[in-house]
Amino acid sequence: MRILSVVGARPQFVKLAPIASALQGKADHLIAHTGQHYDELMSDVFFQDLGIPTPAFNLAVGSGRHGQQTAAMLTGLEEVLDQSQPDWVLVYGDTNSTLAAAVAAVKMHIPVAHLEAGLRSFNRRMPEEHNRVLTDHAADLLLAPTKVAMKHLASEGLAERSVLVGDVMTDVLYLTRDSVTAKQEELPLGLNSGDYYVSTIHRPDNTDDSARLAAIVAQLSNLEKPVLLLAHPRLRTLAEKHGIALNQGSLQSIDPLAYPQLVNAVQNSAGVVTDSGGLQKEAFLLRVPCTTIRPETEWVETVELGWNTLVSADLSRLGAAVTRPIPAATDATPYGSGQAAQKVASVLLEGTDRF
Ligand code: UD1
Repeated sequence: MRILSVVGARPQFVKLAPIASALQGKADHLIAHTGQHYDELMSDVFFQDLGIPTPAFNLAVGSGRHGQQTAAMLTGLEEVLDQSQPDWVLVYGDTNSTLAAAVAAVKMHIPVAHLEAGLRSFNRRMPEEHNRVLTDHAADLLLAPTKVAMKHLASEGLAERSVLVGDVMTDVLYLTRDSVTAKQEELPLGLNSGDYYVSTIHRPDNTDDSARLAAIVAQLSNLEKPVLLLAHPRLRTLAEKHGIALNQGSLQSIDPLAYPQLVNAVQNSAGVVTDSGGLQKEAFLLRVPCTTIRPETEWVETVELGWNTLVSADLSRLGAAVTRPIPAATDATPYGSGQAAQKVASVLLEGTDRF
């Protein structure tokens, strides 16, 4: 059986790693990289560190407005699908690369499986929310990470196409945690374990408006411990444009980290402040308190279990949220036990007949 994984952005490379290893020797697995993320630190280092095979196709579409970027991917992917003739196209998460691959494949009558199906923020300002909903409704097989995701799919009439597989990011996080813990690497900027926060900010709703971005940066720079800000290119570009310094007060910004170094930095931190979906969950799995600068989250389990707090409209609450007492310990495993990729592989290998 031939399976074509289509990826393009940083969080998708992380999800691809356990899938590529679960499919090794069991299927002819090809990878197409759309080139949505192209900087070495946003792309190549993930393939190297996570041992992901080199993509068979690279469309190098680069940046652009949503329509332009998605259209370039659609055009390129049609050609890739024509050449590779896969039995399944596997798409990941919620980026423009996900939507483009789903639309290209469904039009060519090639079965599409969507990994991380059923996540919803119910916030229609987020480009990722459009991408998720449209991809789920186009796809033939919906691979859901959580029971909550399964419920969302059922309420949209998609129960018959849905399978609960667990969360593949949990698989890769546990493996990486074990290897970085054994290595005991140094922390960036000579920071001391337990004595700093890790932060990432990149969502358009937080970066595009200069007053909002300035307010977030001001709050972070006033925290009582150093804040290691891992600056996404979108953040750097917009901060520069708005004249906002990313190194001030407690704030110390560096380039994005490779995945093992990110896990090491989060694991040793006193807390995480972010608007990333993946990082909220990684903080929970490493049992590090998280504060999320968004009005809602797709990973509601992290909030219900007390390890994640949302701060959005009233940013003056940020300091108190970040320094809140450590949440109650929990042994809940809402994201599975680290075996999700094996489950994905066995569902895909069952074939496309029942879909
Ligand atoms: C994308 C995804 C988002 C995901 C995020 C992870 C969409 C709509 N959004 O957002 O779901 O959480 O990736 O990082 O698909 N840039 C670079 N170098 C790169 C990549 C991007 O400089 O390697 C710059 C581009 O110039 C662009 C900006 O970052 O202006 C945004 O890139 P884009 O891929 O459009 O979206 P992200 O904000 O990264």
